[in-house]
Amino acid sequence: MIRVHRIASIPADGIGPEVIAAGLEVLEAVAARDGGFRLEVTPFDWGSAYYRKHGRMMPADGLAKLEGLDAIYFGAVGAPDLPDDITLWGLRLAICQGFDQFANIRPTRILPGIESPLRHAGPGDLDWLIVRENSEGEYAGVGGRAHRGLPEEVGMEVAVFTRAGVERIMRFAFEQAARRERRHLTVVTKSNAQRHGMVMWDEIAVSTATEFPQVTWDKELVDAMTMRMVKRPASIDTVVATNLHADILSDLAAALAGSLGIAPTGNVDPTRRRPSMFEPIHGSAFDITGKGIANPVASFWTASLMLGHLGEDAAAARLMAAVERVCADGVLTPDLGGKATTAEVTRAVVEAVRGAN
Ligand code: IPM
Ligand code: MG
Repeated sequence: MIRVHRIASIPADGIGPEVIAAGLEVLEAVAARDGGFRLEVTPFDWGSAYYRKHGRMMPADGLAKLEGLDAIYFGAVGAPDLPDDITLWGLRLAICQGFDQFANIRPTRILPGIESPLRHAGPGDLDWLIVRENSEGEYAGVGGRAHRGLPEEVGMEVAVFTRAGVERIMRFAFEQAARRERRHLTVVTKSNAQRHGMVMWDEIAVSTATEFPQVTWDKELVDAMTMRMVKRPASIDTVVATNLHADILSDLAAALAGSLGIAPTGNVDPTRRRPSMFEPIHGSAFDITGKGIANPVASFWTASLMLGHLGEDAAAARLMAAVERVCADGVLTPDLGGKATTAEVTRAVVEAVRGAN
């Protein structure tokens, strides 16, 4: 019997609709090539345009509409004329937090044909998986402001770390490391300066490590980690860090791999109680919206992550192999120094998928 996966697509803002349309086209080709599964895609028109009409980023029962589906394929959120905290908290973070997608995964590799700003670094020298805590920490939304506008004004942004929250992301990270070839985890904190939550992270790393004797691990302070990423990229395999630290490290990782235009991410609920959400990291990119030159590689890589999550490992690998072949052939968008359009890269990947063994 053919396997059916029910996907929500939420293209939302900026270049989101362009890259998600490209991704759906490629996904369809992958499913047809595989023959063992089919995707049933339900599109949702939520985002900033929806906000201008309805005064909210998604309907009040938005989460209920997504709840029964198998995964969410998300584009980008944010518009120049709307405050970021409204667009973000109204849609993307509302889904991440509402569905407790506590594990954010960010794989980074130098794909063939793509030049890293690191001299001498090529494919194989940089192959990382960053695991980002995605439910609490610096993004907990806890804090407040008082005495607004007065000289005495105070603004507090409280980072919240719970034992349950840190234990579950630490265990997830060790599990991910155990599945990778090199089976190494680097635990990133800032426990020299932050004496409470960060020290708890370190302690939980030590106790969780005992459950994974097959994984080697080390720890690094976040500032030192930025240097290590640049100077000794091959010493890194899997990384786990707090919400904000991993946010920053993953932008550096994407830049070192050649472009933010290729970086994918998954907001995962490892318990599989609720759908996980997969999205390119790049965001809305207003400067190139509607020009037809957005790099669809991040959205293809994202689609591959989603297929892996749905258990379609062969299809996920075939899709990535097709993307790598097209990059190696030099069919690249302008952000990677090429001249190809979104449509040209998409067509090339669809053809590579069709021709693949
Ligand atoms: C990311 C982004 C978001 C984040 C922004 C848009 C809030 O930078 O996914 O890395 O910080 O989580
Ligand atoms: Mg970021």
